[in-house]
Amino acid sequence: MKSWGLLLVAALALSGSYAVDRNNFKTCDQSGFCKRLRGFKPEKSEYTLNLDTVLVHGNVLSAEVDTVDTSTQERKVLWHYAMRLSALVDGTFRVEIDEVDPLYPRYRTQLALNGEPKADGLKLLSNENGKLTLANSQGHKVVITAAPLKIEFLNQAGDVAVVLNDNAQLVVEPLRVKKERIDDEDGNAVEVEEEGTWGESFKSHHDSKPRGNEAVSLDFSFPDADNVYGIPEHTDKFALKTTTSGEPYRLFNLDVFEYELDSRMAIYGAVPVLYSHGPKHSAGVFWHNSAETWVDIVNYADSTVVSSLVNLVTGGQKRRVDARFISESGIVDVFVFLGEKPSDVFRQYVMLTGPAPLPPKFSLAYHQCRWNYVDEADVRSVDNGFDEHDIPADVIWLDIEYTDRKKYFTWDPLKFPNPAEMIANLTSKGRKLVTIIDPHVKREAGYFLHEDATELGYYVKDKDGKDYEGWCWPGSSSYLDFFNPVVSKYYSERYSFENFPGTSKDVHIWNDMNEPSVFNGPEITMPKDCRHYKPPQDGNDGLAAYWEHRHVHNEYGLWNIRATHEGMLQRADSKYRPFILTRSAFAGTQRYAAVWTGDNMAEWGFLAVSVPMCLSLASAGISFCGSDVGGFFKYPEAELMTRWYQAGAFQPFFRAHSHIETKRREPWLYDPATTALLRDANRRRYALIDFWYTLFYEHSVDGLPVMRALFQEYPKEEDTYTIDDQYLLGNKLLVRPVVEPGVSNVKVYLPGSATRTLWYDVDTYHAYPANGYLTFDVTLSKVPVFQRGGGIVLRKERVRRSSALMADDPYTIVVALDANGTSEGSLYIDDGETYEYRNNKYIYAKLAYEPSAMTYSFVNDKASYPTRSWVERIVIAGIKNPPKTAKLVQGEKQTSLQMTLHKGNDVLVVRKPAASMAQPWKIIFSY
Ligand SMILES: *[C@@H]1O[C@H](CO)[C@@H](O)[C@H](O)[C@H]1NC(C)=O
Ligand SMILES: *[C@@H]1O[C@H](CO)[C@@H](O)[C@H](O)[C@H]1NC(C)=O
Repeated sequence: MKSWGLLLVAALALSGSYAVDRNNFKTCDQSGFCKRLRGFKPEKSEYTLNLDTVLVHGNVLSAEVDTVDTSTQERKVLWHYAMRLSALVDGTFRVEIDEVDPLYPRYRTQLALNGEPKADGLKLLSNENGKLTLANSQGHKVVITAAPLKIEFLNQAGDVAVVLNDNAQLVVEPLRVKKERIDDEDGNAVEVEEEGTWGESFKSHHDSKPRGNEAVSLDFSFPDADNVYGIPEHTDKFALKTTTSGEPYRLFNLDVFEYELDSRMAIYGAVPVLYSHGPKHSAGVFWHNSAETWVDIVNYADSTVVSSLVNLVTGGQKRRVDARFISESGIVDVFVFLGEKPSDVFRQYVMLTGPAPLPPKFSLAYHQCRWNYVDEADVRSVDNGFDEHDIPADVIWLDIEYTDRKKYFTWDPLKFPNPAEMIANLTSKGRKLVTIIDPHVKREAGYFLHEDATELGYYVKDKDGKDYEGWCWPGSSSYLDFFNPVVSKYYSERYSFENFPGTSKDVHIWNDMNEPSVFNGPEITMPKDCRHYKPPQDGNDGLAAYWEHRHVHNEYGLWNIRATHEGMLQRADSKYRPFILTRSAFAGTQRYAAVWTGDNMAEWGFLAVSVPMCLSLASAGISFCGSDVGGFFKYPEAELMTRWYQAGAFQPFFRAHSHIETKRREPWLYDPATTALLRDANRRRYALIDFWYTLFYEHSVDGLPVMRALFQEYPKEEDTYTIDDQYLLGNKLLVRPVVEPGVSNVKVYLPGSATRTLWYDVDTYHAYPANGYLTFDVTLSKVPVFQRGGGIVLRKERVRRSSALMADDPYTIVVALDANGTSEGSLYIDDGETYEYRNNKYIYAKLAYEPSAMTYSFVNDKASYPTRSWVERIVIAGIKNPPKTAKLVQGEKQTSLQMTLHKGNDVLVVRKPAASMAQPWKIIFSY
């Protein structure tokens, strides 16, 4: 929604300068552990595996790893660590390194994984010359060199795909007892510890660091990689850049007011997963840690990397990327993915953290938001505006002003006196409402949430154990400690229809500001020495009694949305699928919520960056992503607004939103020609609503990105590795949004084989052979979208007010033929909102076209759904040798069909087959 600094906006709008205030946010040098560890570059790692301690049991190798003082002859052991290497199913390994006997337990990230990872077999193949060789049941190998410790992972092809600690940057700072202060004769403290160990300051904020330094770090090398990707959320390119001459990429969930483009600064989300890719293979690592993290990248092919370093590290081989993760606390806990294809590594990550469940169908349609729709009359007029202008829309959103003075779970009694009736008015047209619920709680006497939380001790505590107080939208606020299961349960119950009066199953939730945003906190968030709940069984005195915010920061929002999700399930007896939008994101967020890219600006650069930002999030399991259409700050002129609607119509989460101080901009407030273009963009989205729904169904099963980078489907094609201004939807549509002002043509890369792959312009059905870059003419109404030859896409072309009203509408089936004259696709249908699909009340069908016949068949024939949809038309593009007759066979029924051939573009239209989509069918062609 919005961030701290709101008061500045008006002034800035006048001066015309919008820019992030970098002074509010730390650089690596201002972050104690980043500075300390980034500077640590030993020639040789101090970490050594003690071969006498190696034990292989089940899928786990355990061994002691020691740090050894190599400066003396007698190899003095400095510290003892426990290492575990586990083999997991699907080409995945896990490496954990913790202290053998830490002073207090070190934090292990709790919510990212979707349950215990599944074990694979692990066999020790050899133990000789200081090296251990192991293999899992699928033939992936691990070679561990004991001294200094180095771990190499080999894929099934026998290639080394990932190496740990090749650059000697493994560090686990041991927890220590604070030394007593020592004074000199004049009573001044003598420096007994490195400065900053037991406290550090940033601006006016002091972090007390009661546990001292506890950072961890490890480097990863990816031989044969051209690029690395992932670690969202940043505004940089999808392919990550070498960081040696600047700041590392930072992962720390922050509410960054007016965030900037092309930046490695942290913003709202942090997902510590990184993938490598080159022509030989893909690989990946997931750094399972929820503390503040910085990531350095060295790509040896980058011109900024000096050749002497390339020679030193790789012997002149430029195809290699190194990465290094540095986190403030926790343990070393890393999952290694051995691919070998891009889709394998994406799947390997998602199977650990869980695929996104099937969303309710309306959430894939168009959303209308503004800070704020001010009262019920405003909501009514916006709702009616869509009907008056024949623009489909599914959801109206309410930002913070609907509440009774920022007290969540309440309504402003004057502006929203009849929420139930307002909502019933929306639902009568198949529309929904989304209301915002932020995690900060107004500290106001008489507010039930504040009184309960105070009385029951549900707030996050400050460093001294008192309720932490910060400043947010309501003024003085406190924050629920969702890490306590009792608090999460209490919070979930707030979402019941009784506790949130006026709401119904058609009210869905937006959890914003959940990094968490604290206007007067360090870096606009919660102080790191705040205290969170810790289960008492881990020890309950002193520092063992609680976690500090520093340990859990990046997963705070995940705990928030998980409790919301649970509450939305419970409010309707787990009958209906919740929709939640979150701003902060971490590994696993996709299990509960969609993510948007936060407070962007009505500028062309922010439209453009929506693509790489969502590609990066999608690679990290979060496919349900979009940007504020039109831009949040500032006002988009007609052309930018048009291009943003056109782009948004082809991104997973499609919501227009705007700042309270900007001019109103509902689609009909532009000139009629622009309104017509915005209407057209929305109608394009609705025509493809079942295509989107099918993609998200398949995504809920296979976890693969819905919005996908070209290299995922064309991994050998090197030109695709850095393309992030176009993308694929599933493997069927290729989208190149127009994100530049005033252009009459754009470059589009058409991947595949020039002799075999065809791409059909979806507006003209003209087929273009895959041929690398092509310059494509565009007008203001044209966005290059291509359907892959060989892919079938289903459309619904009747214009309705909302997606719910389209449920029974007929399909137009668009069959784009490949060079062999064949094509295939899929379709998912269910009631769009319940979990009845789990009881086999759905249709998942394959469509296949061959010159002799077209078939519609159910993948699971135990499942069915009584849809009233039927086939209105089949468009077959790219037909060389049209059939003479066509006959529909469905059940007992046989019908001769009419066809029309549109010469010139080789399109055959089968008219009104009228086949029911509730049953399989077949159309037989004869020649
Ligand atoms: C619901 O719709 C009716 C009919 O348009 C209207 O009179 C009434 O004011 C609406 N109620 C609310 C709360 O918006
Ligand atoms: C055409 O068919 C051949 C033989 O079945 C197959 O190898 C090839 O991949 C197909 N081409 C396309 C574009 O699907």
